[in-house]
Amino acid sequence: MSKLIYLDNAATSFPKPPQVQEAMVHYMNEVGANPGRAGHTLSVRASRIVQAARENIAGLFNIKDPSRIVFTLNVTEALNTVINGVVNPGDHVLTTSMEHNSVMRPLKHLEAAGMITLTAAPCDYKGFLKIDELEKMVRPETALVVVNHASNVCGTIQNLKRIREAIGPVPMLVDAAQTAGCFPIDVEADSIDFLAFTGHKGMLGPQGTGGFYIREGLTVRPLKRGGTGSLSEEMEQPEFLPDALESGTQNNVGIAGLGAAVEFVLKEGVERIRKHETDLTADLLKRLYNAAGLTIYGPLDAELQTATLSFTFDSIMPMQDEPGFTGCGSINLAWMEEGIPVDEAGDRLDDEHDILVRVGLHCAPMAHKTLGTYPDGTVRLSVGYFNTPEDIAFAANAIKKILL
Ligand SMILES: Cc1ncc(COP(=O)(O)O)c(C=O)c1O
Repeated sequence: MSKLIYLDNAATSFPKPPQVQEAMVHYMNEVGANPGRAGHTLSVRASRIVQAARENIAGLFNIKDPSRIVFTLNVTEALNTVINGVVNPGDHVLTTSMEHNSVMRPLKHLEAAGMITLTAAPCDYKGFLKIDELEKMVRPETALVVVNHASNVCGTIQNLKRIREAIGPVPMLVDAAQTAGCFPIDVEADSIDFLAFTGHKGMLGPQGTGGFYIREGLTVRPLKRGGTGSLSEEMEQPEFLPDALESGTQNNVGIAGLGAAVEFVLKEGVERIRKHETDLTADLLKRLYNAAGLTIYGPLDAELQTATLSFTFDSIMPMQDEPGFTGCGSINLAWMEEGIPVDEAGDRLDDEHDILVRVGLHCAPMAHKTLGTYPDGTVRLSVGYFNTPEDIAFAANAIKKILL
């Protein structure tokens, strides 16, 4: 049987560094206890493992106080907690037209409930936020700006410093699902107020891990209240972090794995991980750029995107960013129907070439409307740290064979 080539790292990274499962097995076999719930030997060991994970994550994002990092099950839970825990009735929330459903659904729900007003700033056909438009959309009652750091559909990376200049002091929540661990993030330099991350993608940790950071001076109301192992005599939720926002027994086995994963990322170095992924993406773009019958979406520039590439099997010319055109694909839907449908292309990559990719809308329908690839979506190929130049050459050849 030939080797499977995993190119679905935007969904979840695979494989993981061996240290991750070693740390999880160690926790299961030799620690086992609940951290912070008891003063016994194993509980203290468990607390140290969780604290070490928090400190590693603080190091990764240049967070001065690790206790301002709250663990959650994934970035979806992190985003929901911050969004629901920050906004008040009558607030305006500003977001972008490249968001994932993990941002859009909680925001749309609050809008439908009459709690907030919501505006999505437009992005161009490559997925870049139109900063001038964003700036005009900030209102006196804008309480939160929620931005996708990098698109899970086409990899486009937003410039957080320019966004900060445009929005002034309004608190900014960054969905770093696609960048945490594989692109440098510095909460100080990037002036991020709330950073939401997931553990199982670029951070190389296990599924069921994630969290968020809260800048000092800002507060988030808890989504859940309950046992924290601290102030047990009180009926009220503790107000100090992280206990205020970490009720109930956490996924401590997962957190042990995440801590080991981040230690691996820090040892390798985010810059090195980024360079490896950028080199592979540049190679893939070069190989596919002139392939007749293929349309690639996004920046088409490895420096301006993550290692995620979206394409459709049809030939359309990307248009300039003219009024009236929402994306390069939207003007040529008739042509799109003539190409190979995305699900068929995904099946053929899997069945005929052992290449694993994801097709469709990738839980981000608004991003596809922006790119002009709604409702069919795209074929998404997402490279990870453990992919090799050989994987890229093999995938590019397979795509070209399907085009024949
Ligand atoms: C940009 C973005 N936000 C949110 C999510 C949700 O991630 P999770 O399932 O880990 O909560 C994803 C995952 O695909 C994503 O790419």
